[in-house]
Amino acid sequence: MNIVKADNLACPLDGERLELREKQLVCVNGHTFDIARQGYVNLLPVQHKRTKHPGDSKEMVSARSRFLNSGVYVPVANKLTEIIVTHLVDAEKICLMDAGCGEGYYFDYVFNYLKDKNDCGELSFVGLDISKAAITEAAKRNRQISWIVGTNRQPPVCAGSVDIVLCVFGFQSFAGFKKILKPGGKVILVEPGPDHLKELRETIYPEVKKSQPQDLSYLEEKGFSLLDRQPLQFKTGVINNEQINHLLLMTPHFYRATKEGREAAVNLKELDLTVDVVFRVLQKE
Ligand SMILES: C[S@@+](CC[C@H](N)C(=O)[O-])C[C@H]1O[C@@H](n2cnc3c(N)ncnc32)[C@H](O)[C@@H]1O
Repeated sequence: MNIVKADNLACPLDGERLELREKQLVCVNGHTFDIARQGYVNLLPVQHKRTKHPGDSKEMVSARSRFLNSGVYVPVANKLTEIIVTHLVDAEKICLMDAGCGEGYYFDYVFNYLKDKNDCGELSFVGLDISKAAITEAAKRNRQISWIVGTNRQPPVCAGSVDIVLCVFGFQSFAGFKKILKPGGKVILVEPGPDHLKELRETIYPEVKKSQPQDLSYLEEKGFSLLDRQPLQFKTGVINNEQINHLLLMTPHFYRATKEGREAAVNLKELDLTVDVVFRVLQKE
């Protein structure tokens, strides 16, 4: 693949295309955004923020990075890559976006697989997250991906310019995704299935619920059709106390658990965990 830098970033203030001028991105109305020393761009204006430091904290980002780098979720990354390859169209110019990319583990994994493929189209990657800490970490993984601080509610990307949006355990905004997708473009969702991390949840909570991913049939009226649904279930094999603690910190369970529940999990010596995730592919009509 011919990997190129994304040229479809848009001004978060007026939606105009951003042009690269030295170390800044500039729109036709003169709004300017500095490219940070680490290589990312902050396209989250203060009026799009609901808190001072939105999204995952530095501690959560660091825990997620360390957990994912230990390789436990490689089967998830492999399956995601396989599904993307199935749904990539044959076009001269393709843009992939990871919406809520976190510290970039999955997008970097996909990038490294696709970069060695011999198709001749141009391929660009936009990794978007509302957390500056997450994007700063992501930028360390890969300098060829365009990493952006921004929100999925109003992705700072030109309307109708993206082929595939990934949303991996992320904040879903179908209005935002619809706007930036090309006609026929796809959203690939990765969400927890009913038995996801059940051994960890059984340690934390007195009663464990089995909840299915949300029903998305309402999206048909909003111009999306469900193309594909694939479950993935596997056991991690024994993971150690350090990995358990990183996992705990990167999930909402850390904040939802009672003090006793959290302590029980933090003190586990090891665990053989069930990973249960569901992949769904939706297409914009
Ligand atoms: C559970 S994490 C998943 C991160 C990554 N996709 C992964 O699986 O490793 C959710 C991510 O969504 C980000 N996030 C939350 N609200 C967001 C929004 N409105 N727009 C973009 N990202 C958001 C958080 O900062 C966090 O990095």
